[in-house]
Amino acid sequence: MSDSKPTHQVHVLTNDTCDILVVLHGANLRQALLDHGLSPYAVLTQRANCGGRGLCATCGVWFEAGEPAPSHWHHQLAARFAYPRLSCQINVNADMIIRLLADKRIWGKHYPTHRWKKE
Ligand code: FES
Repeated sequence: MSDSKPTHQVHVLTNDTCDILVVLHGANLRQALLDHGLSPYAVLTQRANCGGRGLCATCGVWFEAGEPAPSHWHHQLAARFAYPRLSCQINVNADMIIRLLADKRIWGKHYPTHRWKKE
């Protein structure tokens, strides 16, 4: 019997590049990005953030596929009004494709075409 934990692939799109992370089931998405040298933050919020407590809303990412259903109060609003999802409030429980926000100054823009869709 193997005691290895299942893993998932997280495809991280940044402009024209795609990094593929192999992440343990249940890992925190924000921490997985940081562990792999990627950042969900803008330059201004790289150091000035809440450290993953779900308070500052600066760690947002867009989902291209595999988006989990919104459960955190911010994600319910994000889904409704098309704002990025907080990576610190997402556990990786399936393969997913996310996009880092290249044009973010602090929080990221509202994009009406990025509303959450049930898969
Ligand atoms: S790091 Fe502050 S909300 Fe995610």
